Amino acid sequence: MLYSEKVMDHFTNPRNLGKMENADGVGEVGNAKCGDIMKIYLKVENDIIVDAKFNTFGCGSAIASSSMATEMIKGKPISEALQLSNQAVVEALDGLPPQKLHCSVLAEEAVQAAVKDYYDKNGIAYDPDMFKTGHCHECHEGQCSCD
Ligand code: FES
Repeated sequence: MLYSEKVMDHFTNPRNLGKMENADGVGEVGNAKCGDIMKIYLKVENDIIVDAKFNTFGCGSAIASSSMATEMIKGKPISEALQLSNQAVVEALDGLPPQKLHCSVLAEEAVQAAVKDYYDKNGIAYDPDMFKTGHCHECHEGQCSCD
């Protein structure tokens, strides 16, 4: 079977799906190649992510990745959410097919974009290098041959 049970579960029954009103941080990212778009919303209290939601216009793996990512960052300090890697999301999903790994990168980038938005809105100083994922902006792969 191409997809793990966890991927199928999070795809057919996504957690934290939907728009969040009055979010403290919103991150939207897209993959230029496939055209998929992911948006993640955060509610933050005392530096803790008390709630997270997502909207994803994309493939099943992107939906499963965003569902899992929001589950993984809920209840965590912002600083921990920033460390969330696409590999951790893939592991939590019991794997993704190799050609679908880039879909999980969207989740990592959307979480980071939402944290950055939270920092910007609240005038919190940060090192911009924290938000450099090292992923290629063309294909969003960790190691690609685009450039
Ligand atoms: Fe575009 Fe999965 S194919 S995110």
